[in-house]
Amino acid sequence: MNKSLRKAVIAGNWKMNKTPAETTELINSIKPLVAGADCEVVVCVPYIDLFAAMEAVKGSDIKVGAENCHWAASGAFTGEVSAQMLKACGVEYVITGHSERRTYFGDTDKTVRDRTRAALDNGLKVILCVGEYLEQREQNITMEVVSSQVKIALAGVTEEELGNVIIAYEPVWAIGTGRTATADQAEEVCKAIRELIAGLYSKEAADAFVVQYGGSMNASNADELLDKEDVDGGLIGGASLKAPDFAAIVKAASK
Ligand code: 13P
Repeated sequence: MNKSLRKAVIAGNWKMNKTPAETTELINSIKPLVAGADCEVVVCVPYIDLFAAMEAVKGSDIKVGAENCHWAASGAFTGEVSAQMLKACGVEYVITGHSERRTYFGDTDKTVRDRTRAALDNGLKVILCVGEYLEQREQNITMEVVSSQVKIALAGVTEEELGNVIIAYEPVWAIGTGRTATADQAEEVCKAIRELIAGLYSKEAADAFVVQYGGSMNASNADELLDKEDVDGGLIGGASLKAPDFAAIVKAASK
């Protein structure tokens, strides 16, 4: 499988951080540092920051994403935002299935599938997150967990639609802990995900498919992780909130 067939995608997941004014400030600092990057650069921000982000990225190639979306188009879902609403606002990307949504907000493989479906139906690009808990890794069931998350989320997704999907492999034990997966551990699972895509779709689809790693990726470990054949980018939490660190990761992906 040939890495040169794919353009790396570096996406920041800001989680529950930054006000609109701080969003403008951070994007204004990131912009000059990532100008001319040879990879796709995305910032996924809280809903209330989307407009500030879309305004701030003007004149750059940075894309804006949301961190979640509801599966219904509209209705009695207090506090939720639909994929349709995001699309209407001009948002391009959305994260589905982040482990924090699964752990703290009751997302299941089925609701992740429904959110992914709604996003694709509305022309959004999806960053679908999968990953095992530490205890599952210790039980040697990482690939069972990840495969079933991928298969359920992609049920009904056509090969054409798959072109709008990225998978972010995020081992839960590496998120926000400073404990990164080793480059070999990241590669092993990212490669297995690509093989799974080849089996579910085709070798061509798998060759073109972007698989990111996420979990304590930072300016110092990005090079080693992104050097791996099957690691096509990163979904970055903490380090995406610091312009120089995020830019260093973008630079590592642009080599
Ligand atoms: P950290 O980079 O802070 O570990 O977060 C990773 C993550 O959850 C990105 O979605």
